[in-house]
Amino acid sequence: MVIIMLGAPGSGKGTQCKWISSKYGIEHISMGDIFRRNIKERTDIGIEAEKYINEGKLVPNSIAIKTLEETLDKIDNLEKGIILDGYPRTIIQAEKLDEYLERKSLKLDAVINLTIPDEEIISRVVNRRICSNVKCGEIYNINNNPSKKENVCDKCGANLIKRADDNQGTALNRVDVYHKQTKPLIKYYNEKGILNTILGVGTLEENQTNIESILNKI
Ligand code: AP5
Ligand code: MG
Repeated sequence: MVIIMLGAPGSGKGTQCKWISSKYGIEHISMGDIFRRNIKERTDIGIEAEKYINEGKLVPNSIAIKTLEETLDKIDNLEKGIILDGYPRTIIQAEKLDEYLERKSLKLDAVINLTIPDEEIISRVVNRRICSNVKCGEIYNINNNPSKKENVCDKCGANLIKRADDNQGTALNRVDVYHKQTKPLIKYYNEKGILNTILGVGTLEENQTNIESILNKI
């Protein structure tokens, strides 16, 4: 099973992908998490990516494509299934992904497009907190999904942190970039007949039910 989770910043991609990954036993590949891990470890990719991420811009295609392909190459049994969170984000990335999957004899089964009004995005991201333990990465929201103990992850007990790009200014740029560079992918995948759009504004459970009905048809 190869699934793409498409959506604006804060639409709930990470939250839903974590759930899908544990329910269906497929690998969750979050491009944002990969870059953040590289930033923390001060790798060459991380140092380069950080400049773009902190301004709310996309990391250049050449870096994103190489990083994604190297990540997938390291997975032993890709056929078991993957869910791509935040990849692709440009038409060029989508075309290169098609080529990669073809080389590996894999089929893209579905694209889930989570929609959310722009007005809700900023409030969601500025109130988000994430687990500082990169192996955990649990996602919270101080408004609607707080941890039981303030600033402590319910799952692993590590501290919660705010992402460097979760401030209002950067988030507004991310929304703008989404509309200009990523939204064209909706048409791209709709024309391939594999696009499934669901409202990201429902409760987490409502979103899960909608996703389940899409994935159960595959
Ligand atoms: P990335 O980390 O992927 O950021 P993003 O796309 O902006 O998405 P977010 O992670 O902010 O939101 P999400 O949709 O995962 O929502 P979440 O579940 O956390 O990428 C970061 C940066 O890396 C990019 O800006 C770019 O620079 C670079 N990058 C990444 N991929 C790239 C690529 N392919 N090419 C080039 N550059 C790339 O939820 C958000 C909040 O809402 C949370 O607090 C959550 O608790 C809450 N929430 C979730 N669902 C609900 C709900 N149903 N109701 C109420 N609250 C909810
Ligand atoms: Mg995310």
